[in-house]
Amino acid sequence: MKVCAFLDSGSGGIPYMLRLMERTKDVRCVYLGDTANFPYGEKSPEEIIQGAVSAVDLLTENFSPNVIVTACNTISVSALAELRKRFPIPFVGTVPAIRLAGKISRNGKIGLVATRFTVESDYTRDLIKEFAPNCLVLKRADPQLVDFVEKRLFDATPEEKRAACMPTIKEFSQCDTIILGCTHFVHLREAFQEAVPSGVQVVDSCDGVVERVLKQLENVPDVPSIALGENSLFVTSSSHKDEYEKLCSRFGLKFGGILKKNS
Ligand code: DGL
Repeated sequence: MKVCAFLDSGSGGIPYMLRLMERTKDVRCVYLGDTANFPYGEKSPEEIIQGAVSAVDLLTENFSPNVIVTACNTISVSALAELRKRFPIPFVGTVPAIRLAGKISRNGKIGLVATRFTVESDYTRDLIKEFAPNCLVLKRADPQLVDFVEKRLFDATPEEKRAACMPTIKEFSQCDTIILGCTHFVHLREAFQEAVPSGVQVVDSCDGVVERVLKQLENVPDVPSIALGENSLFVTSSSHKDEYEKLCSRFGLKFGGILKKNS
């Protein structure tokens, strides 16, 4: 058994963890939603780094993970270099799937929907330059959609989910490929796919990230499974605790409650 930890500002990274759980039973997954710092996408780089460092501290102190997935594009494009400097643990980042979109777009017009921080970051600009240099990449920051997923995921109807995707789909009407560049939006992948005109492809980084995690874990020694608990989800604040409990039961995860320093 090995331990893989996931970090996001809220519920965004859950699809990544579930995808890993589908692929292997030999990894204990621990998830931390840093809800005390939600939303990361509206913060300064210094605030994001500070929040991410404290959250990783919590994960390392409590679970000694073999690998940590920063299941948040905003953290990955801003704080990953700093986290790698500070912690001697392998990290797997999640960044907008621009390489994939650049490969599969037929008309060279790509839409990227993400947090404000991610769409404005130099990291994203460099990804576009490197992997989609001949494409027109339209960018849309959608903090309302992040908020919708964080607050309504547990009770929104399929119609409400599709409606929440529509402003993005309308704005990207000339694009044949839409990148979900915020992990929260991966929860809406089906809703997006159902709502886009036929021929439009919706892509995210989920499969690529899970492949990298599995590769990373190949060389890690096993710890006895008895020492490990169930796949669990923790948060850092009491807000929306009940909603998180509901989400956990829907996804078959144990809700671990609030994770605090030295708890
Ligand atoms: N899920 C996060 C991402 O992928 C960000 C959400 C937030 O703004 O906190 O960027």
